[in-house]
Formats: sequence, C-alpha cells, structure tokens
Amino acid sequence: MVKKSNDYPCIQVSNLRKEYGVKKTALDGISFNVDYGKVFGFLGPNGAGKSTTIKILTTLLNPSSGNVIIFGKNITNQASEIRKKIGVVSQQPSSENNLTVERALDLYGLLWGIKGNRRYDKVSEIIDAFDLQEIRKTKNDELSIGQRRRVQVAREFMHDMELLFLDEPTVGLDPSARRMLLDYIKKQVKSGLTVFFTTHIMEEAEYLCDELAIINRGRIIAFDTPDGLKHKYSDDNIIDLKVKDITAESILPRINKIAYGSKIEINGINGFKIKSFNSQQILTKIMEEFSKNNIKIESITIESASLEEVFLNMVNSK
Ligand SMILES: Nc1ncnc2c1ncn2[C@@H]1O[C@H](COP(=O)(O)OP(=O)(O)O)[C@@H](O)[C@H]1O
Ligand SMILES: [Mg+2]
Repeated sequence: MVKKSNDYPCIQVSNLRKEYGVKKTALDGISFNVDYGKVFGFLGPNGAGKSTTIKILTTLLNPSSGNVIIFGKNITNQASEIRKKIGVVSQQPSSENNLTVERALDLYGLLWGIKGNRRYDKVSEIIDAFDLQEIRKTKNDELSIGQRRRVQVAREFMHDMELLFLDEPTVGLDPSARRMLLDYIKKQVKSGLTVFFTTHIMEEAEYLCDELAIINRGRIIAFDTPDGLKHKYSDDNIIDLKVKDITAESILPRINKIAYGSKIEINGINGFKIKSFNSQQILTKIMEEFSKNNIKIESITIESASLEEVFLNMVNSK
C-alpha cells in the first residue's frame, strides 16, 4: 500500500443511475469523487442506495447509466484490473460454515495468491489485530453474529489492496469490537489505504471519515467533511442561559430583542434555551447587554448540534 500522488481521484462517479426493473429507481444520478488515502463515508438510512452503490463500484452490478472510473480505469471494460486492487466487505455474511476461523483466513489468503510463510504470518497478524485468539479454532457456524462479522472484515485484510469497500461493517459488533475495527481501519489509512465506508451510524462516520456524503432515496443531499456538515447545516446550536436574582419572564422582552429570529424558550424560573444558527454572536450580545444593565448571569453554555441531528434534519426534510 503505497500512497499515491496521482493528480486524479481514486474514485470518480458521475451521474450514476440504477433502476431495478422498470419502476424502482435505487440511484437517481449521483456524482462524487474520492481522493487517494482518504476515508469516504456514505451515510444514509435503510434503502437509501448505499449497497447498490457499493455493488456497482465493486463491479458486481451493472449501472443503468452514468460513469464510474476507479484508479483511472473504467468499471465497464476494465473491471478485472480494478478487482485485483480492491477489497470488499459486503453487507451479506459470508458462509464458510465448516471452517475454523484460522482456516478460513488461511483459505482466503490462498485464494488471493498469498504464498506459504507470508500467508502464515499474515494469519497471525490478523488474528492479533482483530482479537480473534480465543476463537481461532472455532468453526464459523458456532460463532455469534458479531464474531462472524469480525472475521468477515478481518479476512479482507489478508490481502494487499489500494481501496477497500466496507458495507456497514460494524453492524452486530459490540462497542469494543467496533472501536477496534475503526482504529484498525484508521491505521491502514495512515499507511495509504483508501476506504469507502457505509453506515447509518453518525458517530462512526464522524470518527472515521474525512469526507461524508449523505444519501437519501438515491440522491446525495449533502457532501462535506463531518465538521463542515455540522457548521453548514445545523441551525441547532442551543444557548443554555440562566440568570441570577431575576426571573426569566421579566427579561424576556430583552432576550427577544437580542436574539431576534431565534427560537426562544423559557426554561424554569430563571432560564432560557435559545436555538440559533449564530449563537456565538448572540452570546456576545447577551454578555454586553447584561453587563450594561447589571443583570447577573448564573451560567451560560452553548450546546452544538450532533451530526446525528444534522443528518436526521436533512433526511426528514428532503
Ligand atoms: N435486487 C433488488 N431488486 C429490487 N429492488 C432493490 C434490489 N436491491 C435493492 N433494491 C431497492 O433499492 C433501494 C436501495 O437499496 P440499497 O442499495 O440496498 O439501500 P441501502 O444499502 O442504503 O439500505 C431500496 O429501495 C431497495 O429496496
Ligand atoms: Mg445496504
């Protein structure tokens, strides 16, 4: 995995459409690029079109129209060249039920043409990295769903690749296994791997991704860094203000004037919750106005919107 300094992106998707049958539009003309060495997150609710996109990008499914270029190669006529350099963890579980974890990893390495000692070393490395020691001799059909998923993701790292697709890889994992997986991916990205990752869990997207596309009903409705999305789309910064020696009611007109256009709620006898997109400015004005008029503040904080709120707002409003 060598970091590329190409002047073209790793993935270029333009105007991609997919119809299942005549009526069912799964992808309604999506476009995006993913640069080398980045984690790109595809965040969307069930049925948004995430798996369809992954299937097309990994050459498992033909698009109805549009263009996909990966490593500078076209998926329609250079699929086999692309496949050699990608890894895929699909949403469907794998089913080597009779094999032990260790054997399944070994076999997967063999399928990818990894030879003798190197394969043996790699199996040990992966078993350690994914905390599989305890189940290395356990057969696949005796594993829990979360363990199976962990093995399915782990085995993909048996071979070298430049680009890895992960379709909701953390579903069924417990929090520590989830964190371990995300951290392992981060480490691989540091050494040059490019990752395309789908999830419906915002914290994950926020933790892992350099860039995010929010997809809903086959359309990309937002595209940015996790922080950028929060700033651009959240009008949900909430100022939590408590005053001293005075009732909220009595200074409501003042607050109304300072925070004109914001959503203002009285919160208890001496508190306000002010929902605003320019909360920083409002905060400054409150401090100025209050000190001028000798109104004492007991406490004041700003809660910023979570990516989850941003996401839910967007998905529900489009
Ligand atoms: N093989 C299929 N035949 C018909 N419709 C499908 C098929 N696969 C997916 N769909 C539909 O396409 C849409 C997108 O599905 P999918 O890509 O699986 O979404 P996601 O992975 O985001 O949950 C959904 O409405 C789904 O029902
Ligand atoms: Mg899916």
